[in-house]
Amino acid sequence: MVRLAESITPTVPGSDGTGWEPRIAAMVCNWCTYAGADMAGTARMTYPPNIRTVRFLCTGRIDPMFIVKAFEQGADGVLISGCHPGDCHYVQGNMLTRRRHTIHAALMDFLGLDRRRLHYAWVSASEGVKWAKVVGEVTESVREAGPLLNWGKPGASDSLRLPDPGEAPRIAPPPEVYERISVNLRQTAADLLTEEEGGVSMVIGYTPGTLPGQMVPAFVTSPDEAPTLAWSDGCGNNLSMYIPEVVKKQTDGKVGLVVKKCDAKALIGLMRENQLNREQVSVLGIPCAGLWQDGKLASKCYGCDGEATDLSDWTITAEGAQEGAATTEEQQATAPDPRDIQIAALEAVTPETRWAYWQNQFARCIRCYACRAVCPLCYCETCIADKHRPQWIPKSFDGPGNTSWNIARAMHLAGRCTGCDECTRVCPADIRLDLLNRHLSQEIETQFDYRADDSADIPPPLTTFRPDDPDEFM
Ligand code: FES
Repeated sequence: MVRLAESITPTVPGSDGTGWEPRIAAMVCNWCTYAGADMAGTARMTYPPNIRTVRFLCTGRIDPMFIVKAFEQGADGVLISGCHPGDCHYVQGNMLTRRRHTIHAALMDFLGLDRRRLHYAWVSASEGVKWAKVVGEVTESVREAGPLLNWGKPGASDSLRLPDPGEAPRIAPPPEVYERISVNLRQTAADLLTEEEGGVSMVIGYTPGTLPGQMVPAFVTSPDEAPTLAWSDGCGNNLSMYIPEVVKKQTDGKVGLVVKKCDAKALIGLMRENQLNREQVSVLGIPCAGLWQDGKLASKCYGCDGEATDLSDWTITAEGAQEGAATTEEQQATAPDPRDIQIAALEAVTPETRWAYWQNQFARCIRCYACRAVCPLCYCETCIADKHRPQWIPKSFDGPGNTSWNIARAMHLAGRCTGCDECTRVCPADIRLDLLNRHLSQEIETQFDYRADDSADIPPPLTTFRPDDPDEFM
């Protein structure tokens, strides 16, 4: 494979910037923009020779990873161009790509990539003049941005400090409350596992781990094992991640699943993506006072009232267990989500500072893929990070590979992440993946009026489009 950096000369900027010419990857659709570029050539129009054109049958084929790969391999700028809305030769390829790239552009903005490097346009087969103009403008814009030398390179200093979450809106309940819930949970699980009564052949819940306060997943298959189940303020794991695999192997009976309100959103996501039939699961919903670690309430719990999920087939409280979804008399006190203040703080600084912040974050990644392992919505049989032909993401945990991996992960979860924040909780390098995921969720809600915890009947937002989707970024 010829690397982009090697295919364009001159490639090496002088230390003072002399001798450098922008390297721009132009990804265009065959039927409109490529033909438009052809027309510009046939008509002997002149435009800067800085672009290297990659022809696709349709812009719908242009995966955001292609952009990431172009930057990783030495491009200073990227231009995507295809048929005007309504003119796509595959009917809706360009409409779908408009959505995808709206969010990809928002992600790159949030990471702090200089916006002058990334361009989108609609150019038809008859618009040779427009093509020459677009290439001229894009080249000037990338020239102003200068050579891209810091892709995958940690910033000089890690001076940006995000605001502290502030005081938690509530205190942790006394241990007796957890003990009473645990007793009721064990009783309900034992009843359900008794064939005549429940028709449930496995209950997935929590049991104490080996470390103080640690809770780990438990897979209980008989009433005798039910006493191992427990509930506490350390029940972090989103147990719905086990569901697709378990129900595939389960030949008889339902699977009982202990579910917090935040985890239930992942169940809706799995149903939306046809990974789960609701009939296969019996939801044991528990009102939750939040996840507490080292005396601190997790950020995701500040804004949650902790009610049992509406999906509950059984609601288990300190008072007992009752069939169906039930509300508790006392709701948990809430406060604004501290992650929103942290996202706003990141948006308030310059793109350079933001870029340095995220490159420093990604530099810590050891590519353990714990974030992927705990994510309920990461269920691909072969992850893009494990593919060898072509190898989209470099294996070594160096700067460029880490940056590509984290961008790929964020994009794959865009519009699908349900905000359980398990990826952040398990990350040994404390990378703020929650801020990336949450920012993209907010962007999708603003742009497309879509929330990941909406009904399972609504298609994922990046698999559909509206004719009037915003495209100011183009
Ligand atoms: Fe040109 Fe689809 S064929 S964008």
